[in-house]
Amino acid sequence: MAILKAVIPAAGLGTRLLPATKSQPKEMLPIVDRPAIQYVVEEAIGSGIRDLLIITGRGKRSLEDHFDRAVELESFLLAKDDNRMITTLREIAEGADFFFIRQKEPKGLGHAVSCARRHIANEPFAVMLGDDIFVSEPPALAQMMDFYERQPGIIVAIQEVPVAQTSLYGIVSGATVSDSVFRVDDLVEKPAAGTAPSNLAIVGRYIFPPEIFEALDRTEPDARGEIQLTDAIRKLINHVPIYGYRFTGKRYDIGSRLSYLTTNIELALQRPDLHDDLLVFLKELVGEKLPT
Ligand code: G1P
Repeated sequence: MAILKAVIPAAGLGTRLLPATKSQPKEMLPIVDRPAIQYVVEEAIGSGIRDLLIITGRGKRSLEDHFDRAVELESFLLAKDDNRMITTLREIAEGADFFFIRQKEPKGLGHAVSCARRHIANEPFAVMLGDDIFVSEPPALAQMMDFYERQPGIIVAIQEVPVAQTSLYGIVSGATVSDSVFRVDDLVEKPAAGTAPSNLAIVGRYIFPPEIFEALDRTEPDARGEIQLTDAIRKLINHVPIYGYRFTGKRYDIGSRLSYLTTNIELALQRPDLHDDLLVFLKELVGEKLPT
């Protein structure tokens, strides 16, 4: 069955980026000139998905405004003959059907995904985390969807991470099937230092069959009171084949201060309209500040 819907959990409090996120959702922080979540939405649309459910929470109303038409702004731009920007703004609102539901309590990523149950009903679907921006061609999700068509099951994007960082991720263990495919036989959420079964981390893209909802129902909250998506996947190990997919392309984690800044610089350097001037600036800056 084809993947037609994606769920984007965006209810987190963004505490790692405070105070920037005090009154503004972290998903709306700009990366170069567009909010972080727009990159995720563009990846979904580039993968052929036109039905997007964004899981929001209190203080996240600007997400809905961003994916809506801005008629007053459009008339202002029309008066200035800025048709290019009008098209850009309309494309943001009209590229897909956007649905929103609130996660009413901060009970973890697994709980956020379970809020999508009624919207998804009985279909396979994608989950895309907003902290992870993927730059690749074809889009990372499209690569996973292509694999899913040949091999249905649960597909999680995976990537090698430094051993010192394994406690920040869901970590998989299992066996390599091919360059891009890994058969998962176990997984653990944020293992304590020194206990990770591998350095293969789950990064922010997933494809799930609807069975994940029933597994989420059976998943107990962790010590922090959060229901973890990784723990729910683990419950399906003996029932659904689980694959790790090594996508081609690059992932940018925008969840911490340093990675947020470096992502902005790297993605700006990929933009033809900014590349040359930014490079000159960076070279001058480094030349001035570093001892020769
Ligand atoms: C979440 C998941 C984790 C995954 C990570 C990827 O953690 O719980 O399994 O590896 O996203 O970014 P978070 O970063 O929300 O703490």
